Amino acid sequence: MKGIVLAGGLGTRLYPMTKIISKHLLPVYDKPMIFYPLATLIQAGIRDILLVTAPQETENFQKLLGNGNTFGINLQYGIQFVPNGIAGALLLCREFIGDDACTVILGDNFFDGNSLIDLMKKAFSDAENGLASVFLSHVADPCQFGVAELNEKGNILSLEEKPVYPKSDLAITGLYCYPRGVCEQIMHLSPSARGELEMTALNDLYRKQDKLKTCLMEKDSTWMDMGTPENLFRAASFIREKVLQGISVGLSEERKAKQ
Ligand code: DAU
Repeated sequence: MKGIVLAGGLGTRLYPMTKIISKHLLPVYDKPMIFYPLATLIQAGIRDILLVTAPQETENFQKLLGNGNTFGINLQYGIQFVPNGIAGALLLCREFIGDDACTVILGDNFFDGNSLIDLMKKAFSDAENGLASVFLSHVADPCQFGVAELNEKGNILSLEEKPVYPKSDLAITGLYCYPRGVCEQIMHLSPSARGELEMTALNDLYRKQDKLKTCLMEKDSTWMDMGTPENLFRAASFIREKVLQGISVGLSEERKAKQ
């Protein structure tokens, strides 16, 4: 299983904080944002990881993370010259993915909770059997996200990107598992009205092929998108509470060095 962290894009919702630096390098309590999604992949056992960044940011990420050795991973870098969407960024990872399945996490997404790792491992074996998975979380403000509509049996009826009238409160989080061949699927997509290759369109393609599974995050798990000032603050407060309780959150050089 290959891992991909997507940290390109413009971060406009966090302007002016992101005018001269990638949002993924902003501090979230005691660590740079990128440490949190990276930790989620590592906790699930993924060791080969590609980090996609905007061209002007690659050097900063390399200074921070190097080749990943300190964290016990093999970290490579990809550059997205034009921010043409999340699926557009994934398409650039074709060579890195090769014939493998891959797990993709958005660089501004925060996940916490042990049961999530079990869900991820189940999704890994489904990906080996040709199925894609999306991870869903109940939210108060579904309009801000991709939204999934399920029937009573848990089958997906529809997926919509930032709907004005959401059909459920189930947000599609920024964690996705794909079987081999995901880039070939992306090549079937057309840009959306905002000119981007959308993840929701990619997932909908798998849904129409009957190859999409949903993993509903359990109550002990937490998910946050850190891409707005309010959510950045919420994530920092959540992490601070944990740290004050003596619980380490996110990637830690010291902890990895001991292993
Ligand atoms: O956080 C979950 C949500 O993320 C999902 O519910 C939505 O379905 C999905 O479209 C996405 O929505 P956002 O509006 O939050 O996406 P955003 O533009 O903030 O980008 C999310 C991450 O993807 C960000 O960390 C940078 C990366 N990205 C984004 C774009 C547009 C890239 O690497 N390249 C890009 O071109």
